[in-house]
Amino acid sequence: MRLISSILLVLLPLHCGARWTQIPTVPFESTTGGSFSLKQLKSIVVDSNYQDAVNTDGETLIPPTLLQFSKTFSGDLSSSLGLDIPVVVGNSASKDSIFMTIGNSSHYLDAAGRPTSEGYLLGITSQGITVTGASSLGAWWATRSILQQAVLNDGMNLDQGSATDAPGWGIRGTFLDVGRHYYPPEFIIEMCSYLSFFKQNTFHLHLSDASNLNPNISYERKLEFYSAFRLNSPDSVVSGLNKRPNESYYEPDFENMQQSCASRGVTIIPEIEAPGHALPITQWKPELALSTDFSLLNISNPETIPTMQRQAILFPTIAYNDMHSCSILEEVMLTPLSSSIWSTFIPWFHSKTVHLGADEYSSAEIEEYNRYVNNMHDYIGETFGKKVRIWGTFPPSHLANETNVNTNVSFQHWEFFEDNPYFDFIKNGYSVLNSDDSFYVVAKYSGSYPQVLNLTRVFYGAPDGGPMAPYIFDRSNATNNPPRDSPYVLGQLPALWNDFGPNSTSVIEAYYALRNALPALGDKQWGGDLLMEEYNSVFEKLHAAIPGQNLDRRVASKTSTILSYDFSNTLFSAIFQKVYDKSGNGYDASLKGGILSGCGVFNSVLTLRSGCSLTTPLTSKGRNYTLSFSVKPASSTPGTLFSGSASSLLAGNGSINNVMMVTNGHSYILNYTLPVNTWTDVRLVGINNATYFSVTPEGSNDESVYEFTATLGILDNSFVWGNVMAFEAPISTLGGDTFTGQIKNVQMVDGADAKYAAMVAPLVIGVAPYT
Ligand SMILES: *[C@@H]1O[C@H](CO)[C@@H](O)[C@H](O)[C@H]1NC(C)=O
Ligand SMILES: *[C@@H]1O[C@H](CO)[C@@H](O)[C@H](O)[C@H]1NC(C)=O
Ligand SMILES: *[C@@H]1O[C@H](CO)[C@@H](O)[C@H](O)[C@H]1NC(C)=O
Ligand SMILES: *[C@@H]1O[C@H](CO)[C@@H](O)[C@H](O)[C@H]1NC(C)=O
Ligand SMILES: *[C@@H]1O[C@H](CO)[C@@H](O)[C@H](O)[C@H]1NC(C)=O
Ligand SMILES: *[C@@H]1O[C@H](CO)[C@@H](O)[C@H](O)[C@H]1NC(C)=O
Ligand SMILES: *[C@@H]1O[C@H](CO)[C@@H](O)[C@H](O)[C@H]1NC(C)=O
Ligand SMILES: *[C@@H]1O[C@H](CO)[C@@H](O)[C@H](O)[C@H]1NC(C)=O
Ligand SMILES: *[C@@H]1O[C@H](CO)[C@@H](O)[C@H](O)[C@H]1NC(C)=O
Ligand SMILES: *[C@@H]1O[C@H](CO)[C@@H](O)[C@H](O)[C@H]1NC(C)=O
Ligand SMILES: *[C@@H]1O[C@H](CO)[C@@H](O)[C@H](O)[C@H]1NC(C)=O
Ligand SMILES: *[C@@H]1O[C@H](CO)[C@@H](O)[C@H](O)[C@H]1NC(C)=O
Repeated sequence: MRLISSILLVLLPLHCGARWTQIPTVPFESTTGGSFSLKQLKSIVVDSNYQDAVNTDGETLIPPTLLQFSKTFSGDLSSSLGLDIPVVVGNSASKDSIFMTIGNSSHYLDAAGRPTSEGYLLGITSQGITVTGASSLGAWWATRSILQQAVLNDGMNLDQGSATDAPGWGIRGTFLDVGRHYYPPEFIIEMCSYLSFFKQNTFHLHLSDASNLNPNISYERKLEFYSAFRLNSPDSVVSGLNKRPNESYYEPDFENMQQSCASRGVTIIPEIEAPGHALPITQWKPELALSTDFSLLNISNPETIPTMQRQAILFPTIAYNDMHSCSILEEVMLTPLSSSIWSTFIPWFHSKTVHLGADEYSSAEIEEYNRYVNNMHDYIGETFGKKVRIWGTFPPSHLANETNVNTNVSFQHWEFFEDNPYFDFIKNGYSVLNSDDSFYVVAKYSGSYPQVLNLTRVFYGAPDGGPMAPYIFDRSNATNNPPRDSPYVLGQLPALWNDFGPNSTSVIEAYYALRNALPALGDKQWGGDLLMEEYNSVFEKLHAAIPGQNLDRRVASKTSTILSYDFSNTLFSAIFQKVYDKSGNGYDASLKGGILSGCGVFNSVLTLRSGCSLTTPLTSKGRNYTLSFSVKPASSTPGTLFSGSASSLLAGNGSINNVMMVTNGHSYILNYTLPVNTWTDVRLVGINNATYFSVTPEGSNDESVYEFTATLGILDNSFVWGNVMAFEAPISTLGGDTFTGQIKNVQMVDGADAKYAAMVAPLVIGVAPYT
């Protein structure tokens, strides 16, 4: 036994020498045994022949140039590794540089053996590094390999040698349901940064939807049931479609999201869902709903297709160059004849493919459905030159008298009860994106799906117990999976759905549902061969260096105490309106309003009332955390205690004075009210996926702990109580509205007492009559 294990120990490093153990893995052949340290780096030299080269093969229509990607990389070297490396344009590598160039893309093959523009060659010598991308995007992925390798090697020493790397599949990333739950643009952009670090290139956004509609509720209730169409255009043809102006993407927001994501190689694929899941549309135009299900559009209604597209007449506009000559036609103007959705929003989209949704439609209307999809495909292709994708919904018919979906429409398979992706689609010439629901996540609660992406399944989920790959649609029956080299498999996206609507989660919970396993899936989407133990050994170290995001909401701190206000600097505080942070981090706070408003700092106590607040230089802190303070309300008037960029802790709101957390406009209310005119020691504890509120009367050991929970509404007649809620700690402002009272001993600590982790509220499923 001893002998065998010592042989294994010798063999393992030899095996690993043929690749870099990163996410995804990078095939790497080392040469001399020497290394090159990034600490020697003096410049990034961008090949002058290719500085403006862009990747035209990918999904984006706004691809960055090699120079632009190189500048982003330079910024990442600074933020992730603390290296300040200038970007210069030149025609050859110089010593101690990273030379960025473009080479012959036919050397880099995908799983089907086709050249891919996302491949790259990375060469490392004692003199420096050469990155040869099959395109600027390939070069960008090479920079991710360099960054990851530097993070994993103390001293930033990269082995001399070379890597020839290319993704097996072209669509890699994730899907997020932003229809049933709003996510601010900044969150989307940070998620793109997250994806990009693991060479994932696609963020599919589901822009319109509603939770399942109970057919038995009244017509009036159906009209007001929560639904959302997240794009908001001032164009009068869609006036009334968007009813949530403060939870929407306006054109500049969507432009910024797409540009920011594209700058890191990630394309946003927009989905506007119809004719199923169309409640936002039928609420807008109730006459278009199917009589049998108000959430479905009736395709036979002659107004339905014109509502989704736009019947246009084309007439030329003459463009004048100057005063003297009348130039040739330059533009064609489209004139609307009726209100329409796609014609309004397609000009916003910078992807070559758009998603029509088209899932879960009435099986009594398959012929109409196929006609609708083809009509939309033709319209979007002919008018805008874009391709369309739909969810796998109805398998093609083999009857000569029936219409099928055009084979140029790609399918996104999600469930075998809808279709068999191999036998129904691939064998009939359709391309398929794998979103099989074995990688579905339903936020917070589900009768059938998990709440967190399953890491074990990534590494062991294949029919033979091996790792997942995009061509594996069926995890138990390999006969249903096409060969690995099938050219019809587009890639793989897991999906995070918000079936239970806007108040079931905070924004950040979507990130945590994907945080630990999405990068692992990124390895499989690329075609890497990382093992689970390897993943676990590198993940957190790599995670801590991901540029362009701070989704963990970390706060830089010298010790575990992030901030500490004991309000003891009375003289300075009074004069300069300052409160000094005693943590050593220098997060001093400033008072607004002050003495004239009857508040301020005296005797180590902060007094707050209407018109004054204390503002820190911080915003939010992610899990785990303990925010402790003592509070003595002077009245039961509701008001804000702490607020931050993502949440607020309130001692009441409106007419009630219960303690509550508010996020995204939703309140999570405790059955607890702070006692008036007496000091209470409070801890707000964020631990794992739960949030607790602990109270102890001053001077006693009598701690009571409450948990913030979500009540989910199901079908407008059942409820699930007691779901955990996670919030980022609010730490930007104390007071600021109607709270009147005193606060002292404010401390924000990174970490939480493990005893709280055991106190998870129970799930209770209840049924209440609908009204
Ligand atoms: C690219 O490489 C392929 C295969 O190695 C070769 O056949 C082709 O001629 C090359 N093209 C260019 C433009 O160098
Ligand atoms: C709607 O009402 C019918 C008839 O009473 C009932 O069978 C069905 O379960 C109800 N649906 C829901 C979702 O409550
Ligand atoms: C759909 O619309 C057509 C035309 O307006 C109408 O005849 C038909 O009854 C409608 N079907 C349903 C199920 O609502
Ligand atoms: C096509 O013909 C079959 C019988 O051969 C029939 O059952 C089916 O309903 C027809 N489909 C349509 C769309 O008419
Ligand atoms: C699919 O698209 C290709 C390229 O545009 C075209 O040549 C072909 O005719 C299309 N096929 C169908 C069935 O429309
Ligand atoms: C929260 O965490 C607990 C313990 O880790 C886990 O059992 C539970 O499934 C999680 N719930 C959600 C909604 O993520
Ligand atoms: C994760 O996936 C594995 C493999 O498919 C399965 O055995 C396990 O039950 C899953 N875990 C959860 C929490 O769903
Ligand atoms: C596996 O899939 C094939 C092809 O769909 C099917 O014929 C066979 O019955 C399936 N086997 C099992 C055990 O379900
Ligand atoms: C948007 O405004 C509505 C109506 O005022 C409010 O109920 C909702 O909470 C707001 N949403 C956010 C995210 O603030
Ligand atoms: C709220 O707490 C009080 C005791 O403080 C208790 O009597 C009451 O039942 C609680 N209400 C709920 C809804 O839990
Ligand atoms: C969330 O919405 C449901 C209705 O869908 C409602 O029953 C529930 O009380 C709400 N919960 C919160 C915390 O607002
Ligand atoms: C939070 O605390 C729990 C319990 O001690 C621990 O298992 C977990 O790793 C902690 N999470 C973070 C992000 O530190």
